[in-house]
Amino acid sequence: MKLAVCNELFAGEDLARVCAIAAETGFEGLEIAPYTLADDPREIDEAQAERIGATVRAAGLSVVGLHWLLARPDGLHVTCADDAVRARTREFLCHLARLCAAMGGELLVLGSPRQRDVPDGERHEDAFGRAADLCRGVCETAGPLGVRLAIEPLAPAVTNFITSAAEAARLIEAIDHPACRLHLDAAAMASEQQPAERIVAEHAHLLAHVHANDPAGGGPGSGDLDLAPMVRALCEADYSGWLSVEVFETPLVPERAARESAATLRRLLSGSTEAAPPPRRFPAPGRVRTAAAFREHLRSVAPDLDCTLKPRGAAGPLGEPIEIEGRTLTNRFAVHPMEGWDGTRGGLPTEHTLRRWERFGRSGAQLVWGGEAFAVRSDGRANPHQLFHNADANTAAGLASLLERLRTGCRAIGQDPERLFVGLQLTHSGRYARPDGPPAPRTAYAHPLLDSPVGADETSVLTDGELEGIGEAYVAAARLAREVGFDFVDVKCCHGYLMHELLGAHRRGGPYGGSLANRARLFSRIVAEIQSECPGLTVGARISLGDVLPFAPHPSTGVGVPATWTSGAPFEYGFGIDREDPRRMDLADPLAFVELARGLGVRLWNVTLGSPYTCPHLQRPATFPPSDGYLPPDDPLVAVAEHLRAARRLKGRFDDLVVVGTGYSYLQEWLPHVAEHELSIGGVDFVGIGRGVLSYPELPRDVLAGEPIDRKRLCRTFSDCTTAPRNGMLSGCFPLDPHYKDLPEAARLRELKASERKRP
Ligand SMILES: Cc1cc2nc3c(=O)[nH]c(=O)nc-3n(C[C@H](O)[C@H](O)[C@H](O)COP(=O)(O)O)c2cc1C
Ligand code: SF4
Repeated sequence: MKLAVCNELFAGEDLARVCAIAAETGFEGLEIAPYTLADDPREIDEAQAERIGATVRAAGLSVVGLHWLLARPDGLHVTCADDAVRARTREFLCHLARLCAAMGGELLVLGSPRQRDVPDGERHEDAFGRAADLCRGVCETAGPLGVRLAIEPLAPAVTNFITSAAEAARLIEAIDHPACRLHLDAAAMASEQQPAERIVAEHAHLLAHVHANDPAGGGPGSGDLDLAPMVRALCEADYSGWLSVEVFETPLVPERAARESAATLRRLLSGSTEAAPPPRRFPAPGRVRTAAAFREHLRSVAPDLDCTLKPRGAAGPLGEPIEIEGRTLTNRFAVHPMEGWDGTRGGLPTEHTLRRWERFGRSGAQLVWGGEAFAVRSDGRANPHQLFHNADANTAAGLASLLERLRTGCRAIGQDPERLFVGLQLTHSGRYARPDGPPAPRTAYAHPLLDSPVGADETSVLTDGELEGIGEAYVAAARLAREVGFDFVDVKCCHGYLMHELLGAHRRGGPYGGSLANRARLFSRIVAEIQSECPGLTVGARISLGDVLPFAPHPSTGVGVPATWTSGAPFEYGFGIDREDPRRMDLADPLAFVELARGLGVRLWNVTLGSPYTCPHLQRPATFPPSDGYLPPDDPLVAVAEHLRAARRLKGRFDDLVVVGTGYSYLQEWLPHVAEHELSIGGVDFVGIGRGVLSYPELPRDVLAGEPIDRKRLCRTFSDCTTAPRNGMLSGCFPLDPHYKDLPEAARLRELKASERKRP
């Protein structure tokens, strides 16, 4: 089944923008209401229709067909007794069939309740006969063009003609033309006596098209109607046509409605039948008043976790020196990579980017892990404003300016910039590439759950040769990093991006899929070539050591629920996912990979989990979800605990590795207490901080100096730094960093959040 969305959801938007949003929010097709193109669609000719089709296809979508056929102009009617009106209506529908074919579509959905009502005083059977004749005439034109006319039963509340699937089937039989088929609509089926699953099962042989919606007027899953039985019945009937989202009431944020509708349908298609989990409130760490109370709370959530009650700053394990590649670092804080979606289109830093790096320098952390993801090629960017290796720009100067500002920040707090150990995170975004805005996925393998959200298919899979070309780009970027003065590069293997996905290519054939040696082949080649071409440059890797099935908001509660894998175990997609129960992580394969990489000399590791696209609750634990996220399925401390355990597992297995841990920002006031404990038990070598330094860069320095924490600047996991880029804006700590407060993006973000709060 393929997912489409009806274009009137985005009323008033330019078509190209509608297509970009539809593609970005996870649809594969666009269904068009002709009245949105012109008040009188007869003014549109086939050449224009062809251009419309080309615009849709340019965004990677298909034109499904047309619906809301007779909404405009006035004066059209299917059943009235006036022959001239019916002749005009028939010719109008034939014109739409020609436009539909010119656009590349295959369907006309005949709904239009008012324009088919049996007029007062008319006999129903006469109207029925007139409608059958008219539709047969339309099919005679449409059929040879490859366009089918789909009759849509509608609720008795909106029309008195064809109000059940059975009546529609009788009309189709009377029309008796192979181009005439049935359309079913979730909201309309809800008005029938029979359950939707029975209607689908009984009429599957006639079915050409389905609308997913809710009787209250919103998208699928937005109201009380449970679409699961309908979707199950469609799957059981092997229905392989379009499932189109139709929203009657234009929502305040159409993009959000589209995204949520797509997520709901994907979840239903993946077969999740979990009962709706109730939203729950979890005590945020910042609300716990004492270290002893926090320790008790922590242990109640994760009995194997602990914290010190009085952190000792630089006098404790956080200030213990450590040696990396012959360099001595004097504290155990690391800044995690965090991009800002704020580079130039040419991939160079802007003042926003430089400011962020300067603030990283002011943190006092000795290890700066990559700063942010740097794409090794333009097609590997996750957004049009990501930094990348651009042969047409002075990328070296751009990177040098980042290093310079980092050092400026370091000097500003009275520290020696020469002591910093700084990396550049090298990436290709693979499945999540969007170099020009809309998704342009390049994948390691076809994925049954992740392809459709980004519009990927078999043609998105990179060939062996293409993978090798990307490998060369990693090496070239590493050469550049070395020239510019970085101490190390991170061959990024996390968060669903290409190198991470390749490590899970169990089902890929050829030299880069199947066995661990094959899946790691490209990584191994890149490492070996960097080592030989860039002497003195250390190679590290950020790795998602565990992963789980994709999560989506439950349609009725908004709480995150995992997709259900119904095709039977084992689940052979992904890296660090339990094959028998893919809702769980299994670290065995990733640990075997680390062992392999350790054999190549990779000793510097940054441990993370999951992906921001599929399981953000795990990847960046938060109290407040981003706009496209879901409410936490569990206390976010559970995810923090998983991060700490993952680092402990790696460190416990290979004590000679230098391990940076993740998951600390959510701890807020108690970050130093937990950090010190983890270091003291040897569970990690560096405490990595992401969001915590976006809002409050001097946090590590203040902790080391034993100064009181500035509670007003602590990251409270509001997720604005994720919501903003998910809505096409630059990222930053909008709530707590004054730099962002007055930007136009801050106002847009406030509006977006306010409209979300107003949602029922
Ligand atoms: C705005 C933002 C941008 C991020 N960009 C990257 C990135 O470029 N590379 C990366 O490996 N992780 C990235 N991350 C993930 C963080 O490095 C980190 O793993 C995550 O925020 C969890 O750590 P924390 O709880 O300390 O924030 C990003 C996170 C945020 C919030
Ligand atoms: S916007 Fe600021 S407070 Fe919110 S999660 Fe990001 S860094 Fe933390």
